[in-house]
Amino acid sequence: MKAARQPLRDRDFYPEGYSDERDTTEVPDGVRLQKVLAQAGVASRRACEEMIGEGRVTVNGQIVRRFGAKVDPATQVIHVDGKRIPTAPDLVYYALNKPIGVVSTMDDPQGRPCLADYVEEPAPRLFHVGRLDTETEGLLLLTNDGELANRLTHPSYGVQKKYWAKVPGPIPRDLGRRLKQGIELEDGIARADGFTVVQEHGQQALVEVVLHEGRKHVVRRMLEVAGHRVIDLARIEFGPVKLGRTKPGTMRALSLKEVGELYAAVKL
Ligand code: URA
Repeated sequence: MKAARQPLRDRDFYPEGYSDERDTTEVPDGVRLQKVLAQAGVASRRACEEMIGEGRVTVNGQIVRRFGAKVDPATQVIHVDGKRIPTAPDLVYYALNKPIGVVSTMDDPQGRPCLADYVEEPAPRLFHVGRLDTETEGLLLLTNDGELANRLTHPSYGVQKKYWAKVPGPIPRDLGRRLKQGIELEDGIARADGFTVVQEHGQQALVEVVLHEGRKHVVRRMLEVAGHRVIDLARIEFGPVKLGRTKPGTMRALSLKEVGELYAAVKL
């Protein structure tokens, strides 16, 4: 009887590091993939080489296992374990805790305090991702990654934002239900995705409202129509990014994980 032929794809047949996927991602004058990953902060070069060998790295959607592969970090899209890695050297991503009284523009012809006053290292074409009212404090993302900024503000991606509002109490039991069912505003219904009473102290309460839309003054207007005029408002989360301990008037660079999660939130 004839011996069954071994399938050619049998892994043991190939030397370590060999890939039989056709690699169309090579950029001859590019930068070595492990160097790009290490510079982006993924891990040491050695550890990145291992990740490549294990088939955990894709370039433009294609697994690249070949050692020494060269890529263009500015234009190619690189994922590790399915998470996008920001590799373009000139792209920056920040979280600012915008203080009350600061307008959400990069400059203000009327000379009011604006975002540029808080940007420590001005980068070319830095955009703010959406806006906060002048009287609202909290998390504002800043980046020069135009595609990411556009998607994060586009309603079709439904990225959720979380707000804390100080309002007059007591809070009626049905307030959350009303906000989630939808509040009729002059420019259409606005619905909350989430609502929680964080604290109640006599005549004042702190409530949490989660929304995936960004109409002007929307949280203030919803709560006002519901009978709770906002006293103070802060945004504490934008999609996967949390304000955390970033103090008002300070800015921090987003971590690799946060940027990867932002990309994932808008399917980039
Ligand atoms: N909703 C508001 O009312 N104000 C903001 O700044 C953001 C959302």
